[in-house]
Amino acid sequence: MDTINNFAFHREHLAKAYCDSLAGLGISNATSGLFLAGPRRVGKSTFLMEDLIPEAETRGWVPVYVDLWEDKQTDPALLIVEAIKKAIARYKGKLGKLANVVQIQKINLFSAVELDFSKPGLPENMTLVNLLSYLRELTEKPVLLLIDEAQHALTTSAGLNAMFSIKSARDQLNTRHKSPDLMLVLTGSNRDKLAQLVFKKDQPFFGSDITAFPLLGRDYTDFFTDQINQALAAGNQFDKTSMWEAFQLTGHRPEVLRQMVARVALSNAAESFSKLLKQDAFLWHSKVWNEFESDFHALPPLHQTLLHLLIEQGRGWSPFSEHSMQYYKAALKSSVSASAVQAAIQLLRDQGFIWQSSRGVYTLEDDSFAEWFKHESRFKKLREAQ
Ligand SMILES: Nc1ncnc2c1ncn2[C@@H]1O[C@H](COP(=O)(O)OP(=O)(O)O)[C@@H](O)[C@H]1O
Ligand SMILES: [Mg+2]
Repeated sequence: MDTINNFAFHREHLAKAYCDSLAGLGISNATSGLFLAGPRRVGKSTFLMEDLIPEAETRGWVPVYVDLWEDKQTDPALLIVEAIKKAIARYKGKLGKLANVVQIQKINLFSAVELDFSKPGLPENMTLVNLLSYLRELTEKPVLLLIDEAQHALTTSAGLNAMFSIKSARDQLNTRHKSPDLMLVLTGSNRDKLAQLVFKKDQPFFGSDITAFPLLGRDYTDFFTDQINQALAAGNQFDKTSMWEAFQLTGHRPEVLRQMVARVALSNAAESFSKLLKQDAFLWHSKVWNEFESDFHALPPLHQTLLHLLIEQGRGWSPFSEHSMQYYKAALKSSVSASAVQAAIQLLRDQGFIWQSSRGVYTLEDDSFAEWFKHESRFKKLREAQ
């Protein structure tokens, strides 16, 4: 099913609007940075690569993209530096296109400045601020730095320092011309974590806003339905309304929708898609949801109950309040000690289920988990209604 897999839906208007705000030309102003938060697998990276970067290139900007999740073993600060170094090498024509590696060891930037590619990181006596300024000076074009999954920078002190350097580079570079010379796009899969960068006084981007990443909508599913139907027999056609219903159930995740649609199309059942959605659990057995399901069911009952309440109450969850303790007791039909709750919280943190901010607020490590939960209960209701 090639049509299904090679399909990308473009949002040029959105890309244009964001670029306008980044340049200070739009109704909204993102000259201090565009912070986009949205759950996993809803198309943030795809949008950056397929729409935002091409639009930036059209405007003559130099895009530098780095995904801090690409390699979790490498310090986020180093990933950022290497991405900027590569952009310099690309500009100097020293980057092998296919291998994406630098073809020589050293690049001469200006008379006394040399960039060493044989060692990772920055040369001595060069800062990240210098590096960004060099890129700007060399290219003589505005630079757009896109940091995907930026919240990951918070996990190391070097990463956090890199964020402070980027902020200070922005402030220094953007005083020179009327339009900004360094523009920033930072995305995050967890709104609360991304918020850490902007909401706290001692954090690098204090005072900036967070924008919810606009999820793909009905225009996407309508387009997708037409594409798919073209490849299918006349008696095996999807209808737009059920496609849209299904997409909402997936939490607006194109990949999950694709998996479901492929299954249904192959079994010649496109026309009864809507009915199948309500009837058959097999539709949901996609990889994404399976992982959540097995992780969750592997937890002891107390841990599951804690997660239940956290999802229900969100940021207001106070694990040791009287109400919470009563809730655990009622759910588990036995009394629960505060120390057991404490130990359960610790395990949930260690296993990456929950995240405690430095303000002591608990949130889910992965927002998608809450969606899986909602989907589970919605599905249960649908089944019970039959
Ligand atoms: N605009 C789109 N059109 C078609 N498929 C998309 C689109 N955006 C995302 N996808 C698909 O959804 C999946 C997740 O997208 P991705 O960009 O990696 O999400 P995120 O960065 O939010 O985790 C990928 O398989 C991608 O191909
Ligand atoms: Mg991504």
